[in-house]
Amino acid sequence: MFTSALRLVYISLLLSPSQSCYQCFVDVKDSLRLCWGYLLTKYNVRNVDTCFEKLDHIFNNNKTVIEAGRVGKGYDIQLKEILDAEILPLVEEFDRKLNNDTVYEQRLQTAADNFISAASKLPRVSGCFPPCGFQSAGAVYNCITCQYDSCEFLLDCPVEEIKVMENSRIRMWCAVPFALPSDIEVIWRFAEEVKTQQMDQFKEVTVGVDRLYSIPSVSLQHQGTYQCEIYSGQLSIVRVYYYISVTPQLVAGHTELQEIFDLSLLPGGQLFPASGDSPRSFLASLSLLLAACLTALLLLLFISLGVLCWSSIQEQSHTEETDEDEDLDLF
Ligand SMILES: *[C@@H]1O[C@H](CO)[C@@H](O)[C@H](O)[C@H]1NC(C)=O
Repeated sequence: MFTSALRLVYISLLLSPSQSCYQCFVDVKDSLRLCWGYLLTKYNVRNVDTCFEKLDHIFNNNKTVIEAGRVGKGYDIQLKEILDAEILPLVEEFDRKLNNDTVYEQRLQTAADNFISAASKLPRVSGCFPPCGFQSAGAVYNCITCQYDSCEFLLDCPVEEIKVMENSRIRMWCAVPFALPSDIEVIWRFAEEVKTQQMDQFKEVTVGVDRLYSIPSVSLQHQGTYQCEIYSGQLSIVRVYYYISVTPQLVAGHTELQEIFDLSLLPGGQLFPASGDSPRSFLASLSLLLAACLTALLLLLFISLGVLCWSSIQEQSHTEETDEDEDLDLF
């Protein structure tokens, strides 16, 4: 008896890497009692090892059993209750009694089938919200590891790109689709200019509980990646990223002016092959425009002065003429 018990422990250790719902919930002590009277019909001998192989075959290597055991958080207690209801009466019935392998096979298979149909009805809602974050509450039970699986997402969320105009206001919300614990700490970090997820490129900006980060008036220096990391205790839960690209207002206004200038005054823009984006060429164009305007104004002034001059001369000659006429009249 003692040696068979030792052998059993050895077998269960051997089997331990591939668990099943059976191993997760049924005591080795109970399994020992269940398998005690396993009779090999062929040789008419009692054999506990073969009984364990049978259990293995019916429960461990049965994908349907493992699938049925993938219940939602908290329902592993019900899984145990279902299996206990199937196995424990068998343990009591088979304890210290001989039963042939056909009987074992049939009874264990029935127990497994009943477990599958009952466990399949248990809630199995996965609370995992992709694509990122450590979500401890979202897992389903795993009969291979006898634990709840974690959601197995990356800590880092994908970078979300946001375009903003210079001088406008921006608000970034450290949003996650899953429930957070109450004791969170939020750290906002910033990596200037670059679009990155590399930790060493970030500098800490704020530490606290605020999940909102706002910039009242965006300037060019605000361009870059913002990272928000949420901790609970010392454990990092998630890292959210925003890449902010700032459109300068000056450049937008300048290009517009340049276009109007090119269209109205310099068709083809051939006179200024270098008229690019640099403010210097813009200033040059502006001064040329100013000079042209001034010249036109001066020209206008001269013409009007000329007209004024001419008209006054005309008037004078007319008076002289009338004077002559008068003179003539006198004659
Ligand atoms: C096994 O046991 C059952 C019940 O005692 C019996 O009916 C059956 O014939 C046995 N089978 C073999 C193969 O001995």
